[in-house]
Amino acid sequence: MLGKLRNLLIAFSLLTFVAGCSTSAEPEVINTPEVEVAAIPEEPAIPEKRTLNDGVFSEAQASAGQYVYDNSCKTCHDMRFYRGVLRSWANQPLIDFWYSILGEMPADNPGSLSDNEYTEVIAYILSENGFPAGDTELDPNNGMEQISIVAP
Ligand code: HEC
Repeated sequence: MLGKLRNLLIAFSLLTFVAGCSTSAEPEVINTPEVEVAAIPEEPAIPEKRTLNDGVFSEAQASAGQYVYDNSCKTCHDMRFYRGVLRSWANQPLIDFWYSILGEMPADNPGSLSDNEYTEVIAYILSENGFPAGDTELDPNNGMEQISIVAP
């Protein structure tokens, strides 16, 4: 009787052992570290901290932004409005300002412009508020969280 039970137990644990083997044989666990390793080389590409005074948008972006501004923003607030807005956003990352405008403006149709157009209109607003253009393009996918807003 006991011998039978023991045989049964052995058979059962053998079964679970086999089952365990077949699932752990799948490569899912092995893949995870590879993904992490692949992400590491991107780190040196992250630009250093900058502010709006460091030429964070191009001249071309600012002039393209004027077109967007005239067509989509001008009707509701004038340029003076943005001085106060930028002041209230001082020390915050420019990417947060970008997302805020993308999510809320134009107030009558939020999110209706392309990512590029939002970026260009911000370049124009910055330019009109006295911030310098530079050699690098403003890009929401590249280092904009490292750019601090400063009061105009
Ligand atoms: C239909 C009217 C309308 C249009 C068009 C419009 N806005 Fe606005 N905007 C508003 C209103 C209303 C507010 C909120 C009230 C306020 O702050 O005076 C606002 C607020 C803002 C703010 C302040 C947000 C903050 O966090 O303080 C910014 C920046 C802004 N708009 C940018 C834009 C830009 C850029 C465009 C064009 C792409 C645009 N708006 C188009 C009506 C508009």
